[in-house]
Amino acid sequence: MVSYKELGLVNTREMFAKAIKGGYAIPAFNFNNMEQLQAIIKASAETKSPVILQVSKGARNYANQTLLRYMAQGAVEYAKELGWEHPQICLHLDHGDSFELCKSCVDFGFSSVMIDASSLPYEENIALTKKVVEYAHKYDVTVEAELGVLAGVEDEVSSAVSHYTKPEEVVDFATRTGCDSLAISIGTSHGAYKFTPEQCTRDPKTGKLVPPPLAFDVLDAIMEQLPGFPIVLHGSSSVPQEYVDMINQYGGKLPDAVGIPEEQLRKAAKSAVCKINIDSDSRLAFTAAVRKVFAEKPGEFDPRKYCGPARDLMEELYKHKIINVLGSNGKA
Ligand code: 13P
Repeated sequence: MVSYKELGLVNTREMFAKAIKGGYAIPAFNFNNMEQLQAIIKASAETKSPVILQVSKGARNYANQTLLRYMAQGAVEYAKELGWEHPQICLHLDHGDSFELCKSCVDFGFSSVMIDASSLPYEENIALTKKVVEYAHKYDVTVEAELGVLAGVEDEVSSAVSHYTKPEEVVDFATRTGCDSLAISIGTSHGAYKFTPEQCTRDPKTGKLVPPPLAFDVLDAIMEQLPGFPIVLHGSSSVPQEYVDMINQYGGKLPDAVGIPEEQLRKAAKSAVCKINIDSDSRLAFTAAVRKVFAEKPGEFDPRKYCGPARDLMEELYKHKIINVLGSNGKA
């Protein structure tokens, strides 16, 4: 058993309380590899933003959970080396799907876990979430739960359709489970294809897809039921057109990829939404940079020469999100 406190990590309790009061959101960036982690830590240290490092089940399978945990531990030291005196870094399990998985992360030094039992019937979601909360809270590990279903594909989690969170259920759910934060469904979705062309309109000038707006009325109703309770938005990549264009220009094929417009996320960040999950945007930045190098320098075979530019582009992306979208700069 390792406590996250020994590793210099923090849970989300204070981060979220401050974020709600201050009208900003904490970035939750997924990572699977060293370059992503370096870019996240550099961007957070330079902007002095609290940050949540997210590890999904797929990331654990890809990179090995032991290695990822030690990488997060190393990230705290790296942040200090970069001059960030008191790094506010949380290590979070994204979309845990069983008690055993959540328990193993708590025991292994994670400071926060998500139990995603949103696909189960309501009472089963409550029972499983409550079990995880009871265990995690013994070690002061915070727990995110989910009500409602997001559409889209993310690692091993997928659903064809979304079901908005029902505001009339949230008080009962939060009270009976004791969860620390609640991921809700208001129209965001996982991946780079968040909406089908049929769900969007087209900008007559550019021909680009314009996605439907998020259901802010549902968010408002949830906040009215649970005033001051930390709300989480998954599936919040914006799928920046510049990266999609770069990927397509250099031999990729991402037709009609579309995300959540940043002004909607900015609006959400000012509310009780205090954690915003971003994964796909970083994948797009990485791929765009690597494709560019491969297209322009076909003789290049040193991974540092294409992973390095990918890292730089991701760092730029993370800083942009922190400063211009979430507003968490200077808060740590
Ligand atoms: P995106 O696919 O929109 O980046 O969402 C990531 C996410 O919600 C991770 O849980």
